[in-house]
Amino acid sequence: ESKTVTLNNGLTMPKVGLGVWKTTPAEASQMVATAIANGYRLIDTAKQYGNEAGVGAGLQKGLAENHLKRQDLFVTTKIFNGDQGDYDKVRSAFNDQLERLQTDYVDLLLLHWPVFNRYNESWRALEDIYKDGQAKAIGVCNFNVAHLTNLLDHAAINPQVNQIEFNPRIHQPETVAFCQGNHIQLEAWSPLGNGQLLTNPVVKQIADKYGKSSAQVELRWELQQGFVVIPKSTHSNRMKENMAVFDFKLDADEMEAIAELDEEKHSIWYDKFKWSGNPEGVEDYIARNE
Ligand code: A2P
Repeated sequence: ESKTVTLNNGLTMPKVGLGVWKTTPAEASQMVATAIANGYRLIDTAKQYGNEAGVGAGLQKGLAENHLKRQDLFVTTKIFNGDQGDYDKVRSAFNDQLERLQTDYVDLLLLHWPVFNRYNESWRALEDIYKDGQAKAIGVCNFNVAHLTNLLDHAAINPQVNQIEFNPRIHQPETVAFCQGNHIQLEAWSPLGNGQLLTNPVVKQIADKYGKSSAQVELRWELQQGFVVIPKSTHSNRMKENMAVFDFKLDADEMEAIAELDEEKHSIWYDKFKWSGNPEGVEDYIARNE
């Protein structure tokens, strides 16, 4: 089984990466260096996480200590909601992001949220960033079918990736089907549902059968549906565990048993976002809820 996927523009992307949401720059730096030593090649950050400089330092450390080259890594960051909607603002904010990350390109640049009335103009900037080689692929996060349909109507370059909240509790089936039908690679954030299903007896029983952990079973369930996954862990042993998911396969009954853990709800962020329509409002909302 391949440990990478090929995006609709031909770029190769690892199937498992490290997410660094909710970590300080110092933590992120340490995590990124440790992850690279543990074989991680995909690192996912965002301006909104406030740790890009830490990630940049961790990348440098990881590259030096493991005798790797920049092109061995796949670095993702995201455009901040408050920078969206103005072509020049997106481009200059992104240049600052590259500086913090200590690199002259990212492998994947994403719009962090579908900011009402702003994402099409933001996308125009991403298309030029892509053409200029400052991003090897471009995409979006948290876009639903309505957002994607609108974006595809205006875009010259279709997104390569949609990163959404996806785990056994949150499925978003319409968005998943739309992306699969339009060659948009799906990527799962919070693939472990923030750890909430790690003690679930259904998951545990399947894990025991394979001599695997509940976390590994959840990641496997997502990988088998074609997702790229970016579990976050600050612990080296858990990072290794989350990478060791290519030596077993869930059968159809097990896939279904885990699918039944669906709580048929969308991410709380989507619901809040629907009526917000205001990028600062979303930032405030996220800040209040962290
Ligand atoms: P920690 O960082 O202390 O290891 P998600 O990526 O879905 O948001 O989940 C991240 C949460 O799951 C974090 O709290 C992380 O804790 C925990 N976690 C990550 N990997 C594992 C694992 N293999 N086993 C148990 N908990 C894990």
